[in-house]
Amino acid sequence: MKRPFSLSPRLQAVADLVPPGVRLADVGTDHGRLPVWLVQHGRVDRAICSDLRPAPLSRARALAARWDVSDKISFRLCDGLSDIPAQEAEVVTIAGMGGETIADILHASRWTGEAGHRYILQPMSGTDGLRRYLSASGLAVFQEVLVPEGETLYVILLAEPGEMKPLTEGEIWVGRQSRGMESPLRGRYLEQELQRLRRAVIGLERSQRPEDAEKRKWYELAAWEIGNMKKEWDSWQQ
Ligand SMILES: C[S@@+](CC[C@H](N)C(=O)[O-])C[C@H]1O[C@@H](n2cnc3c(N)ncnc32)[C@H](O)[C@@H]1O
Repeated sequence: MKRPFSLSPRLQAVADLVPPGVRLADVGTDHGRLPVWLVQHGRVDRAICSDLRPAPLSRARALAARWDVSDKISFRLCDGLSDIPAQEAEVVTIAGMGGETIADILHASRWTGEAGHRYILQPMSGTDGLRRYLSASGLAVFQEVLVPEGETLYVILLAEPGEMKPLTEGEIWVGRQSRGMESPLRGRYLEQELQRLRRAVIGLERSQRPEDAEKRKWYELAAWEIGNMKKEWDSWQQ
């Protein structure tokens, strides 16, 4: 008997953000759990699984075969979106990679700035760099979702082609906040990122390199802004 197959909280949160019935491309699919689960549960009719390397793509093929959805999934061995035409990907999920790799994948594609696509991005690190890229690239972040898994708080960014007011230095680290936004974990996230920045500032204070002095100033500015955002957020919760 096959064991029922469920997603981790991180991937389940990504799955829950995929609108029903869309044409989906999952880039860097590895095991293929996200697209296989979405097809198996009838959330999407078809999906593309893509990966840069053959071994992960074989894992995705095996999982799709195991759950009898191979005929509904197309497999592409390619770098990022390079073998995925625009019309086949209304929604693109890119999860479980560094923010810099995700930014590189979006940047390399010819069609990511065209209307009619949504990007659900879940960086494991470098979220600040990804926000910085999106802020300058014509992709507007319209929602951020925080997902706890064990001790870790993962961030999911939802973006679509469009203009976004440039992010401030603090917002690059923690995203934009607005009164009334639904985000029960935001207070914890602000505190976590503030502590991370403060630790980075202490590290940079020990450095003799001139470029680190410059970097430290930006980090201090970001930390100061996030401190103010935290006060604002706490006042909204009363
Ligand atoms: C850690 S796995 C993430 C798997 C899954 N998306 C998740 O979130 O659990 C990252 C996968 O991305 C793939 N990858 C890395 N760079 C890529 C690129 N430029 N284009 C496509 N796939 C890439 C790797 O081969 C690997 O299988």
